[in-house]
Amino acid sequence: MNSNIMLRHKVVKLIRRYLEDAHDFVEIETPILSRSTPEGARDYLVPSRVQPGTFYALPQSPQLFKQMLMVSGFDKYYQVARCFRDEDLRADRQPEFTQLDMELAFTTFEDMLKLNEDLIRRVFWEVKGVQLPNPFPRLTYAEAMSRYGSDKPDTRFDLQLKDVSDIFADSPFKVFADALSSGGIIKVLCVPSGAKRYSNTALKKGDIYSEAIKSGAKGLPFLKVLDDDAIEGIPALVSSLDPAGREEFLKRCSAGPGDLVLFAVGPLKSVNKTLDRLRLYVAHELGLVDHSRHSILWVTDFPMFEWNDLEQRLEALHHPFTAPNPDDIDDLPSARALAYDMVYNGVEIGGGSLRIHKREVQEKVLEIVGISPEQAEAKFGYLLEALDMGAPPHGGIAYGLDRLVMLLADANSIRDVIAFPKTTTAQCALTKAPSEVDPQQLKDLSYQNQ
Ligand code: AMO
Repeated sequence: MNSNIMLRHKVVKLIRRYLEDAHDFVEIETPILSRSTPEGARDYLVPSRVQPGTFYALPQSPQLFKQMLMVSGFDKYYQVARCFRDEDLRADRQPEFTQLDMELAFTTFEDMLKLNEDLIRRVFWEVKGVQLPNPFPRLTYAEAMSRYGSDKPDTRFDLQLKDVSDIFADSPFKVFADALSSGGIIKVLCVPSGAKRYSNTALKKGDIYSEAIKSGAKGLPFLKVLDDDAIEGIPALVSSLDPAGREEFLKRCSAGPGDLVLFAVGPLKSVNKTLDRLRLYVAHELGLVDHSRHSILWVTDFPMFEWNDLEQRLEALHHPFTAPNPDDIDDLPSARALAYDMVYNGVEIGGGSLRIHKREVQEKVLEIVGISPEQAEAKFGYLLEALDMGAPPHGGIAYGLDRLVMLLADANSIRDVIAFPKTTTAQCALTKAPSEVDPQQLKDLSYQNQ
């Protein structure tokens, strides 16, 4: 723990030196007692004593403050910023965490990526002696989802997914036919030498099957390729393939004797979710992850919006201040965003975008995510007014500093690189916060003691 905290110190020091000394960034602190910023998580709220019945929200990120700073003429801002998100905790999530947050005026997409590649290359070189590629590889969101079923693929191993919907278009297998007729797809993951490694029993009720079910799949169809290229599996599935279909199938999956092919069937989103999970599971179980490799890449061209089934509305995939790709401006709801995520070994270490800097575009985007003009004025009136004043084109990024240090330290959880982290129930193990408070404190806040 001691050496992890020292490593964290070294990383922050390096970043500060690079941004301040090599690029003239200015560190500016932004408020903690603030108003909700839409980053997609639940807010932590703080009741106001002097204005009973009203609340501050702790910042999920300094997003809107940094954009206001751009309009104020600070062309290069950065901050080691504490952020708060009340979300379910995992190994790479804490309720309070630290972002290395930055924003630049008059920057282009390419300049943003280049500056950040230089920064991260420097950190990896100085801290770990690792030479990262120059430039970083890039994948579009569409490519990443199609090949890996994930927008943060780990490319230290191959295992690419293939769409085989066309090959099974006339399949008598009911599960497949039903999925295709209701607009779903069929995708596969070929596991090299998996036929012997996974017994039929394991595939029908073992751990690998449980992985598929946990991801939301209703079952785990599979086929095994035998030594003579014959195929074994559910009879209705095997009989779906005539000799030409079988040849095409084996070619598409790059499957040969001894390989196992796992299927996911249904709506695109759930198919990708299942195969992403299985891909990671199989790679770790079969020891396919080459730990001497460093997989770093950008994912770009995210869609601006994503359909939220629960709320029956479009929501911003990043946040609603992200600029649309100018080539797609005529059809905003299905436009691609000028957004980028940096992904290291399958973990999203940072994400950002160029921002909307015109009021009309901002108003349209807010409307698309279901914020009425009145609500927009009430919540973001200051931003809209600032955009009216001639905001410079600007963009930025934020890294999860804890995640970055966790990866550099080869730690398994961000808790291992945070002094006084929270437990999975969001408790401080040292002080036992959150705790009950003195009834007088509640009274001062105009709260009844429950
Ligand atoms: P985003 O929400 O993608 O973007 O966050 C940026 C980075 O912060 C890290 N992160 C977390 N780390 C630990 N615990 C969490 N609960 C947690 N949530 C996020 C991730 C992520 O990549 N304002 C935008 C950035 C921008 O557009 O400039 C933002 O906050 O590593």
